[in-house]
Amino acid sequence: MRIIIINGPNLNLLGKREPEVYGNKTFEDYFSELQAKFKNVNLEYFQSNIEGELIGKIQETGFTYDGIILNAAAYTHTSVGIGDAIKGVKTPVVEVHISNTHKREDFRHVSYISSGAKGVILGFGLQSYDLAIESFL
Ligand code: DQA
Repeated sequence: MRIIIINGPNLNLLGKREPEVYGNKTFEDYFSELQAKFKNVNLEYFQSNIEGELIGKIQETGFTYDGIILNAAAYTHTSVGIGDAIKGVKTPVVEVHISNTHKREDFRHVSYISSGAKGVILGFGLQSYDLAIESFL
């Protein structure tokens, strides 16, 4: 089982960024925990602050991997291009958010990802990613 987690802009700042919303842990530390927990899953991680690089990674992995877990971060609410990319590939995409975006500002209530996603998991903190991996097992 080959799964990639793709994280969008500013998620490289986890641990430092708005800890009251996103927690204190870096994604690298959390990713090591995920690898230890899901030993039978071939897990990869990619992060970019650049929309085109996220689209490129979705295209690159989207025909051969078993699952894509996508937190497009702020691009969730703006990017027709990322939304089209996930509709254009074969690999199922689970949309993930750390925070409950529906409890936050109105602009975060819109997602250009959800209509092309297999499902959406949000609001469980970093555990949202655990749940997304489990959804593929
Ligand atoms: C986020 C929610 C987005 O609204 C925000 O822009 C992010 C992170 C989340 O994981 O809660 O950067 O995707």
